Amino acid sequence: MTSVLLATFSLLPDGEPGGEQLVAALAGRDVDARWVCWDDHDLDWSSADLVAVRSTWDYTRRADEFLQWSRWVEQRALLLNGSRVFEWNIDKAYLLDLAGRVPVVPTRLVDDANLLPGLAVAIADFGTVVVKSRTGAGGLGVVVAERTDDPRLSGLNSGPWAVQPLVESVRSEGETSVFVIDGEMVSQVHKLPAGEEIRVHEAYGGASCPVRLTDEHAALAGRAMQAGAEVLGRSLDYGRVDMMRLGDGTLAVSELELIEPGLYLDVSPENAQPFADLVLRRIAD
Ligand SMILES: Nc1ncnc2c1ncn2[C@@H]1O[C@H](COP(=O)(O)OP(=O)(O)O)[C@@H](O)[C@H]1O
Ligand SMILES: [Mg+2]
Repeated sequence: MTSVLLATFSLLPDGEPGGEQLVAALAGRDVDARWVCWDDHDLDWSSADLVAVRSTWDYTRRADEFLQWSRWVEQRALLLNGSRVFEWNIDKAYLLDLAGRVPVVPTRLVDDANLLPGLAVAIADFGTVVVKSRTGAGGLGVVVAERTDDPRLSGLNSGPWAVQPLVESVRSEGETSVFVIDGEMVSQVHKLPAGEEIRVHEAYGGASCPVRLTDEHAALAGRAMQAGAEVLGRSLDYGRVDMMRLGDGTLAVSELELIEPGLYLDVSPENAQPFADLVLRRIAD
């Protein structure tokens, strides 16, 4: 029987929320899929026909180890998207590579050596800024600052950082995500933060709900995936494109998630079907 390993991490041994939907969708296609921790060294990874990175949500604090593991795994099994894609996507500096190709939330890079002048220039240019670790996920360490002595900057995670203008529409229009699986725009999720928060994640009170695909969001998602594929010189198996509307009305990419975008299977269980189809197609290729 075809065997697929779905990589998660130790605090989420049963996989992402709704993860059983993915196992069921694959079982319906005669594939034996199971959730395993990416850092399980006792596992025979070479026994799998395919490995899919899904909810490896500790990779941000173990980036080097994670990338090394992905290179090791892909010598033993088919790995969706793969280590080179992960290497590029693990650093929010990839937004700069996309910027010449699709509208992207303006992004500057700062590090400890130029934190104060870098922030001062960004604040002068952008007004209120959002500062976040270049390798980060789940909204952790995302900080808003209006001045270089803004006390909120004490909440920064370790650098280097990406600095962006605070996109005000996140509070009203929110953030929209489109899943792209094997070149198809498959579903859309609308996310809104709560209260004074700008982070849309549920952990900060935000709410996500599935909505119909809109032409505007699907088109930008398709362009963003295409742009990523051009930069990398290879096609992409899956991705989630997050978008926000800038002050001038332009819809812009805020994130292109090519490593471990949660499929929102708890709110959009139907996302399991195209992902399962992707797995089968890649095994058959
Ligand atoms: N420039 C920005 N303007 C407004 N909100 C932002 C901005 N950057 C991030 N956010 C908010 O913070 C959240 C987390 O930031 P994001 O860039 O998606 O990083 P992560 O990789 O941690 O998800 C976003 O989903 C959004 O709600
Ligand atoms: Mg995000």
